[in-house]
Amino acid sequence: MSTLLDAVHVKKTYRLGKVSVPVLRDASMEVRTGEWVAIVGSSGSGKSTLLHLLGGLDRADDDSGPIRFGGEDLRRFSARRENHYRNRDVGFVFQFYHLLPELSVLENAMLPALVGLSRLRWLSSRTALKDRASELLATCGLGHRLSHRPAELSGGERQRVAIARALINGPKVLLADEPTGNLDVKTGGGILDLLADRHAAGLTLVMVTHDAQVAARAQRRVRIEDGRVE
Ligand SMILES: Nc1ncnc2c1ncn2[C@@H]1O[C@H](COP(=O)(O)OP(=O)(O)OP(=O)(O)O)[C@@H](O)[C@H]1O
Ligand SMILES: [Mg+2]
Repeated sequence: MSTLLDAVHVKKTYRLGKVSVPVLRDASMEVRTGEWVAIVGSSGSGKSTLLHLLGGLDRADDDSGPIRFGGEDLRRFSARRENHYRNRDVGFVFQFYHLLPELSVLENAMLPALVGLSRLRWLSSRTALKDRASELLATCGLGHRLSHRPAELSGGERQRVAIARALINGPKVLLADEPTGNLDVKTGGGILDLLADRHAAGLTLVMVTHDAQVAARAQRRVRIEDGRVE
């Protein structure tokens, strides 16, 4: 299998006024097409930081090595290509869901598909899009919750909406930050089963977790320690 996404000697330092906090000192890792990789490490080790960099949601230091998608350095992307990368190539599941409270489950899941769509295209494609989102939500076990708002859902259901939203544009890779972190073991197990189904269907998956049992579900584990990936 070919390399889909890789990080090569990546560095990331947060600057808070005069204080600089080096989080990633030398992080290298590779994700092959179709793989399920877990990124593990203790709290504060930089797992979310690395995942955000992989998803093009944040920038590495100026003297960092590259993060590459299909061999292409993300830093060389045009603004347009960068938007496409974030919106289409990658699906991102955030550590704390980040659903929009005023939108329904169906609307939340459809949102990434509406980005950049003209009013005319929206009018002509909305039925197909609603069908696609409803079907996806049904496979995520939410067929009976389409018109509910996030506040009316359990934690596990919210995470399912976040996963459906991340999958709506058919991403090449799903990046999930502690997808079971806020859930009890049983509910978390259901989320992992859902991710495992998607992986079996061909999805490339990168999952951050601090839980060894969760990480055990992945095919391969990489560990961040002292800003380095072993
Ligand atoms: N925006 C920021 N500004 C300054 N420091 C930050 C920022 N984001 C993260 N950090 C610091 O970087 C370090 C790594 O944070 P990160 O969120 O990547 O850790 P993590 O491994 O995901 O932890 P957790 O398991 O608790 O989610 C932490 O020490 C954190 O305080
Ligand atoms: Mg984190």
